Amino acid sequence: MAVILFLPFSNLIGLSGENEPIEVIAGKSEAFAKASRILQNKCVDCHSPGMTRMPIYAGLPIAKQLMEHDIEKASERLLLTKEAYNGKEPLSPLMLARLEGVIRNNSMPPALYLPLKRVRSIFIAIFLILSP
Ligand code: HEC
Repeated sequence: MAVILFLPFSNLIGLSGENEPIEVIAGKSEAFAKASRILQNKCVDCHSPGMTRMPIYAGLPIAKQLMEHDIEKASERLLLTKEAYNGKEPLSPLMLARLEGVIRNNSMPPALYLPLKRVRSIFIAIFLILSP
């Protein structure tokens, strides 16, 4: 019974929602590889349509619209493709300037995202407490 329950639950809480890390192509610096890893971990959910790691609340009405809106707005401004993550396509000067801007202002990821992440931790905690 626990196993039957666990399968759908594990999808919901995002246990299966991780992306395969995208390897950086040969010849790129260690610094680039590190930056790529950070972008893949922290920015992928909104800046790379199709690669969002869907959280438990992704199907809920309001959260769904908020996320879709975020992804649309975010990728209009900065689109991080697989080729950007692995270094095949260099980041354009415009992208770099925008990145520098958000790093200076410390404005990414947006604040609303953090409480939503916390909601996810709470769901996971409840699930762990309730699971036999
Ligand atoms: C929860 C979704 C979300 C996450 C996660 C996120 N962003 Fe964003 N990002 C947005 C949205 C939405 C916009 C568009 C903001 C606007 O138009 O006002 C944006 C815009 C940007 C821009 C363009 C800024 C400009 O000058 O217009 C950059 C650069 C950026 N994000 C970088 C990042 C980086 C780097 C990370 C990871 C550390 C990140 N974002 C994570 C939602 C997100």
